[in-house]
Amino acid sequence: MMQKANVLITGGAGFIASHLVDLLVSQGHTVSIIDNFSTGRRENLLHQEGQVHILEADITDFNAIFSYFAGKDIVFHLAALADIVPSIVNPRGYYASNVMGTMNVVEAARLCGIKKVVYAASSSCYGIPTEEFYPTSEKAPSSPQYPYALTKYLGEKTLLHWGKVYDLAVISLRLFNVYGPRSRTSGTYGAVFGVFLAQKLDGKPYTVVGDGNQTRDFVYVTDVAEAFTVAAFSNVKNEIFNVGTGDPQSINKLVALLGGKKVNIPKRPGEPDCTWADIHKIKSMLGWQPKVSFEEGVGKILEHIDYWKEAPVWTPETIEKATEEWFKYLNGRELSTIHPEKRSDEGSTLRDPLPSGLQDERLGK
Ligand SMILES: NC(=O)c1ccc[n+]([C@@H]2O[C@H](COP(=O)([O-])OP(=O)(O)OC[C@H]3O[C@@H](n4cnc5c(N)ncnc54)[C@H](O)[C@@H]3O)[C@@H](O)[C@H]2O)c1
Repeated sequence: MMQKANVLITGGAGFIASHLVDLLVSQGHTVSIIDNFSTGRRENLLHQEGQVHILEADITDFNAIFSYFAGKDIVFHLAALADIVPSIVNPRGYYASNVMGTMNVVEAARLCGIKKVVYAASSSCYGIPTEEFYPTSEKAPSSPQYPYALTKYLGEKTLLHWGKVYDLAVISLRLFNVYGPRSRTSGTYGAVFGVFLAQKLDGKPYTVVGDGNQTRDFVYVTDVAEAFTVAAFSNVKNEIFNVGTGDPQSINKLVALLGGKKVNIPKRPGEPDCTWADIHKIKSMLGWQPKVSFEEGVGKILEHIDYWKEAPVWTPETIEKATEEWFKYLNGRELSTIHPEKRSDEGSTLRDPLPSGLQDERLGK
């Protein structure tokens, strides 16, 4: 499409985006980022000093970001509140950054004549697929189970709407479980790698959720960065693609590769036993496929384990506290991903729309 581009990455100081910065700089593109540094870290970009233009701003503030889009060719939109568990207690914050923020980004892109917007969507939109939807293709029904998943899905809908209505060229990449160096170490309880690596450094047992036989489609971060660039520089537009490996791995296998003791903690409602990407579409339409095996990826992450020295070390007790609200709201509330349209006739199987405590709160009791 274009040899050397002027690109803008939102959330550029974050885990995935900082690897995308590395790839784009190495390809000779001019790279700018916008980040509010809420979970992103300046250290993630230190090695690129002088190579990257940085605007410290919040994507929820349209006026603060709009003029920065002028003159750019491509926008990679990765800024979001990305930790799953805290979304249950902060839905307004997640809506602001992930939905409103996304609308601001596509609107600024449209007004500034951006040639392509590539969005980091989430495989969490698939919810808890039933058997016939494994491996899960882009055509599987969507059924977000918690506010993070919902807001990322609404962000995707917004992006595609701008593609359809305003003829903005857009691509949505539904990322599965991305892992690799610099994965988030923020104070909130979150992604399995950050939790386990801090525990390993501290000599504590790994807190394995459930029996550890659940599987995740882990995809290595440099492969994901490549998927973004391939999508951006192709002629394909207005499409959704899964980004995973198609080769799910169990949490117990991860524990075996990391080495050390484990302790089991309660399974979390709202989360599937398996995530498994069908990647035929991205392979055939974009010619992308993952290169890094799970064993190789875990090896690479261990080479950088010092990154997690400052990360919080979670214990079963602190996790229980951090997930208290999650269990309170989601226990027994898993919504089927199949035939969602039938649900309205199944009123008797659904609970009250709001727990009684919340109804009271709404009424000011
Ligand atoms: N990590 C995964 O496995 C995964 C899976 C699916 C989708 N994603 C998506 O990929 C993207 C990157 O995720 P990540 O894992 O690198 O997370 P991250 O937290 O490391 O990166 C997000 C970045 O966005 C910035 N940010 C957040 N809110 C902002 C706002 N309002 N204004 C400006 N900047 C803001 C943060 O400071 C951070 O640098 C996110 O959109 C996330 O939803 C990630």
